[in-house]
Amino acid sequence: MDKQRLVQTAQALVAEGKGILAADESGGTIKRRFDSINVESTEDSRRNYREMLFRTAGVNEFISGVILFDETIRQDGADGTPMVKVLTDQGIIPGIKVDKGTVPLPEAQDELVTEGLDGLRDRLKEYNELGAGFTKWRAVIKISDDTPTPYGLATNAHALARFAALSQEAGLVPIVEPEILRDGDHDIDRCFEVTEETLWEVFDQLAQQKVLLEGMLLKPSMVISGGSAAKRAGPKEVAERTIECFKRTLPASVPGVVFLSGGEPDDSVTANLNALNQQAADAKAPWEFSFSFGRSLQGAPLAAWAGKAENIEAAALAFYTRAKLTGAARKGAA
Ligand code: 13P
Repeated sequence: MDKQRLVQTAQALVAEGKGILAADESGGTIKRRFDSINVESTEDSRRNYREMLFRTAGVNEFISGVILFDETIRQDGADGTPMVKVLTDQGIIPGIKVDKGTVPLPEAQDELVTEGLDGLRDRLKEYNELGAGFTKWRAVIKISDDTPTPYGLATNAHALARFAALSQEAGLVPIVEPEILRDGDHDIDRCFEVTEETLWEVFDQLAQQKVLLEGMLLKPSMVISGGSAAKRAGPKEVAERTIECFKRTLPASVPGVVFLSGGEPDDSVTANLNALNQQAADAKAPWEFSFSFGRSLQGAPLAAWAGKAENIEAAALAFYTRAKLTGAARKGAA
């Protein structure tokens, strides 16, 4: 394990004012996003859209890394420049989603487990050669009256740790993502309880499987009320409860937290990240509070682009605007 490389990359990804763009939508997910703007998802349309994001001038002031899908890490831009080079030329670190999505967990009621461990060691070696500096694996946890169960949490945590250990062996910083879905009408206390149980289990497995905590990042959800809760907690409470929960569960040696946006409205995502950074110093939170947003960075540029070449400039401006605001929230200055 190249500890020095891992630690340096992890710290660079959460450098001051910067965070990660998640542009690693799988084939099905990007199709759904493109359906929403009536654009056909083809290799070219995906390339044109993502190249617009990656070439947005000045965005490297706020974006430290980009998570790619397998297709994109092998793709060239319109002028033949590899997409990976488009990023590295701007000092942006390319990363790669390595999980293969979720399937139903056997003998469980409505729980999922993430696949993709078979052959992962060889795939990681190739991604390293293709220029990746980090990796991502997403586990999905649903909140309901009956879920998550200890079985669901243990199975997902075990896979996350297997992924993280193999990534570090290959010199790649693992982004460990136990996503707790926002769906449901549960209150913030229930989200707190599930987040606490989940992170205990995840860090237990990471320790058992010898993962170097200084050389990884955690990509969690914030502790929030369910998306359809009658009364939703505001940013101050979200930040307080999230920090309280992490203090119980998240070792101080993990350099940073890169939150997912999870389908929360843009304004609430920004306000919550801002509040977290405003409270961090007083609460003596030892971690960087950064971002690894997909939807919250891409919603506005996707709508502005609408699949038309003449909208590229407007789409890039929309992306720059969201990235700048998110970069400000990452410093508590939005
Ligand atoms: P969202 O920010 O849209 O939740 O996406 C982040 C991500 O990478 C989910 O795996």
